[in-house]
Amino acid sequence: MTFHRPFLVSRKLSRPTLSTRRSTSGVGAYRDDAGKPYVLPSVRQAEEKVIASRLNKEYAGITGVPEFTKAAAVLAYGKDSPALDRVAITQSISGTGALRIGGAFLARFFPGAKTIYIPQPSWANHAAVFKDSGLAVEKYAYYNKETIGLDFEGMIADINKAPNGSIFLFHACAHNPTGVDPTPEQWKEIEAAVKAKGHYSFFDMAYQGFASGDIHKDAFAVRHFVAQGHNVALSQSFAKNMGLYGERIGAFSIVCESAEEKKRVDSQIKILVRPMYSNPPIHGARIAAEILNTPALYDQWLVEVKEMADRIITMRALLKENLEKLGSKHDWSHITSQIGMFAYTGLSPEQMDALAKEHSVYATRDGRISVAGITTGNVGRLAEAIFKVTG
Ligand SMILES: Cc1ncc(COP(=O)(O)O)c(C=O)c1O
Repeated sequence: MTFHRPFLVSRKLSRPTLSTRRSTSGVGAYRDDAGKPYVLPSVRQAEEKVIASRLNKEYAGITGVPEFTKAAAVLAYGKDSPALDRVAITQSISGTGALRIGGAFLARFFPGAKTIYIPQPSWANHAAVFKDSGLAVEKYAYYNKETIGLDFEGMIADINKAPNGSIFLFHACAHNPTGVDPTPEQWKEIEAAVKAKGHYSFFDMAYQGFASGDIHKDAFAVRHFVAQGHNVALSQSFAKNMGLYGERIGAFSIVCESAEEKKRVDSQIKILVRPMYSNPPIHGARIAAEILNTPALYDQWLVEVKEMADRIITMRALLKENLEKLGSKHDWSHITSQIGMFAYTGLSPEQMDALAKEHSVYATRDGRISVAGITTGNVGRLAEAIFKVTG
């Protein structure tokens, strides 16, 4: 595709629980095994280095701190990616800001219909972000309630049904809210279907490294599409994988056709960003750049991001194990086959109501719980509560 123009947790409970309320539980934020917010040691060290270097507080350029954006592109696309010299990239206000810039860019320059297809369900903010960017939003099949897994056939059918040259938004890994991801083999089939229809792909990668614990594995879909010749758009967030939530650090990029097109896209991105917020904040970018560009800190961060992913994976296994120990006859294998911060339990809205009312376990009525809020201290109680409402 080329562009024509330049282009859980709880309310008070005697014991800890799970909730997705922003006020106390911090929706979608990692918690350590004591249920506390976690600052990565690599982030602390990078921040101390940044502060010790006593840099000035001048404005960054419109597209942000270059040491950060260069390294962010390498992290996403891979250090040996031949696409790197034709990636136009800008720092963004975390992942949300990247999606917003991408939406606005496509609304202005996408040569085909200004409609973006997002999965059903998707992250709660996607539709609003894209509508406000000037795009129409449609849904494609993604989740199968019966299997509590991927509706792969439905997804492919919807890719095939959409008008040729449509825009598709894919979650690169750790699909939010379901935790259900395509396998690499399925991604290959999705890519082939997308290519056959001439669709344009926009990846939202909010969890690189945080999903499986491996930054390369989590970037598989993005890198595969690029290797197959798709000039994708990409949103990156460093909220989860570096725990830099409130620093609002992310990046938006587009793989261009050529270095020449990249120059034109770069300048159009600047024209878009300038009237939105002039230029992005520098502190989080400096921290992320310090980590990504200092080999020892980078290696340490890789270990720490894997520790966070592993804790989540362990809590999933413990929850399943506890349910089975209690004698639950349900198949809970989806709890461990899903990935990332959230688990779709498959519980009905009525069962979720009962969890809240009778057991003070608070989560959304769609059955989603935040695995990040589960700890070795509360998993037993959570399993008991789920067992009591599901049998
Ligand atoms: C799928 C997805 N995309 C994007 C975001 C944006 O997050 P942020 O703006 O904090 O980077 C989130 C956050 O939960 C998310 O789950």
